[in-house]
Amino acid sequence: MVPIPTTLKGRDLLRIADFQGDDIGLIIEHADRLKARQRERIEHRVLEDRTLALVFEKPSTRTRVSFGVGMGQLGGTALNLPTSGLHLGGSESVRDTAMVLSRYVDGIVFRTHDHATLEELAAHAEIPVVNGLTDLHHPCQALADLMTIKERFGSLDSVHVSFLGDGNNNVCHSLIEACAALGMSLVVGSPSGYEPAASVRDSAAATASLTGATIGYVDNPRDAATGADVLYTDVWTSMGKESEAVQRRADFALFGLDDAIIQQASDRAIVMHCLPAHPGEEITESVLYGDRSAVWDQAENRLHAQKALLTLIIR
Ligand code: CP
Ligand code: NVA
Repeated sequence: MVPIPTTLKGRDLLRIADFQGDDIGLIIEHADRLKARQRERIEHRVLEDRTLALVFEKPSTRTRVSFGVGMGQLGGTALNLPTSGLHLGGSESVRDTAMVLSRYVDGIVFRTHDHATLEELAAHAEIPVVNGLTDLHHPCQALADLMTIKERFGSLDSVHVSFLGDGNNNVCHSLIEACAALGMSLVVGSPSGYEPAASVRDSAAATASLTGATIGYVDNPRDAATGADVLYTDVWTSMGKESEAVQRRADFALFGLDDAIIQQASDRAIVMHCLPAHPGEEITESVLYGDRSAVWDQAENRLHAQKALLTLIIR
């Protein structure tokens, strides 16, 4: 095993913009190595005696399981802590929870609604804090997404990514920041009223001016899909927005990934989705389970990318 770089030790990952392109490149390279070792069943217990707290305020399959399993493969322990079983949010403050957990564990993964709550936890924790998804950002998803794109195309250079659907959600926001950091080409196609948050667009524009990334925004799904090497989508109704589901189904009706829209993409196009998917809404069953789908590799890569992240940031 190559020595583990120490440049990211102790760092938080609250949003992709917290890291430079080089940091993300390092995580992906390390993830590739860890994936190979896991596939070959070569031991890599580099976090022995370390403990990770998984504090989840919303449901999760991939994030919860991949962090839990990953920590075990690294020789450490993960504590599954739904907030319903903690004092957090009830009789104990975010600040006190952060201070107490810092005395017991070596890192915290926090999934919560309000991004400001995550920032508050990180401000008071003395150990690395990782965003396991907030309403604004899902950086761990973006790490696995970039790893998957690189795996499929051999490089991130000259890959044109298109995101279709709800531009104003966590997965799209992190994808925008990731493509900006890595100097990639991305177009977001979303209906009027569902554009990415201005804070994310501004931050990505500033990053893109340094990295040479091109990030565009359109409201026509065909324009968004034209020439895409990666066609990416996510649910139209994210967790916490359930009361808007009927309206959203109508507003996004033209933005689904189906066989017709794939015809607009490049010959080598792959399809990505962070999951969970709702076949028949944002993606058809034939596309989700079809030849172009990279969705299951993408889900697997959550494990490898997060193991790499933990290895690099936990002291
Ligand atoms: N993609 C993702 O984060 O899935 P979970 O909600 O199952 O963790
Ligand atoms: N945008 C989705 C992502 C789920 C992983 C949500 O927040 O529900």
